[in-house]
Amino acid sequence: GDVVEFFGDHQAGIVTPAQDRLHFATFDLSPVAKRDQLIELLTEWTNASLRMTAGQDVGSGSVTGDPGAPPDDTGEALGLSPARLTITVGFGTTLFDGRFGLADRRPEQLADLPTFAGDALRSEISGGDLCVQACSNDPQVAVHAIRNLARIARGTASVRWSQLGFGRTSSTTTAQQTPRNMMGFKDGTANLKAEDTDLMAEHVWAQPGDGQDWMTGGSYLVARRIRMLIEPWDSTPLTEQERVIGRTKGTGAPIGKSAEFDTTDLGRLDPNSHVRLAHPDNNAGARILRRGYSFTDGTDDLGRLDAGLFFLAYQRDPRTQFVTIQNSLAGNNNDALNEYLQHVGSGLFACPPGVKAGEHWGQALF
Ligand code: HEM
Repeated sequence: GDVVEFFGDHQAGIVTPAQDRLHFATFDLSPVAKRDQLIELLTEWTNASLRMTAGQDVGSGSVTGDPGAPPDDTGEALGLSPARLTITVGFGTTLFDGRFGLADRRPEQLADLPTFAGDALRSEISGGDLCVQACSNDPQVAVHAIRNLARIARGTASVRWSQLGFGRTSSTTTAQQTPRNMMGFKDGTANLKAEDTDLMAEHVWAQPGDGQDWMTGGSYLVARRIRMLIEPWDSTPLTEQERVIGRTKGTGAPIGKSAEFDTTDLGRLDPNSHVRLAHPDNNAGARILRRGYSFTDGTDDLGRLDAGLFFLAYQRDPRTQFVTIQNSLAGNNNDALNEYLQHVGSGLFACPPGVKAGEHWGQALF
């Protein structure tokens, strides 16, 4: 159907089959906001999201409330299907800086990411106290969700930055066809898949005993806005593109193999190819659930396409997963793909477990 269940042990939007569209936003709490207001905000966001993901409008509605007041819902999703809308919330590192009495609740897994070789991060599109990932098969529904949550937050929190995405760049279930990213390659072939529940427990969901109990059943999200240098890439011969990735462009098969899901023979890949360096065998077994989207934000002032991959990855412990893999990839002497990429935005968030009826996001944190 068109509705993804909101309640559950885990938040929706992580192993949910990746929808086609994304609106991702991060928020900063007002400097005067207090702990009670943070809890109030999370409660209101939960109530509104429960309604929106079920295809209902927020509060007293778009046209059914007091006509003498601004409507509770902005209205642009009225009559639209939720198109499998999911809304996933995360807590940034700065939420635990002491303003809200949460310093001793910070998970050790939520350790600030190190600076990686080649990073060109811009603070205005990095970080945030809270994040919201809205995914839907209808872009208007995803944008409506972020817009209404931002409106509810007014006075307590404001949007720090946001990113629109299209064309999921990862398949997260075996039933989905592998989509292509803006470099034209299939993306998501060797991803973790939702059906592998044992692997999900091992690599994606925080487990009892991992540290902070309030995170059990949650997951850690790393977001990276990765700009692709499209024009140089488009001037690169096909064989070189395939050497750089480590897979063929047509079928997505590993170099030296014939079908997409054939086992990768790492010895046949160039030592600097992306797949060889990112592979679990090169990273002490580290695996992540990739759930990113393509973006194209028009052209820059030199007429170049401002496009790339809005990389989103869920995991149980970023220190041994994303950080390990990115350390293998980063730098001029490592991933050959780096010649065509720039990491320009970054965020790290603790996404709490799923919500039960009558509770709010992050209930166990407070
Ligand atoms: C695999 C593209 C960034 C981790 C792949 C594949 C492609 C690809 C085409 C092969 C198909 C697949 O298995 O999904 C890209 C592009 C990137 C990017 C275009 C940047 C714009 C990253 C980053 C990470 C990462 C930042 C993590 C730090 C992986 C992993 C695999 C993979 C773990 C699977 C390797 C395997 O086990 O075979 N990527 N990727 N990628 N990528 Fe990336």
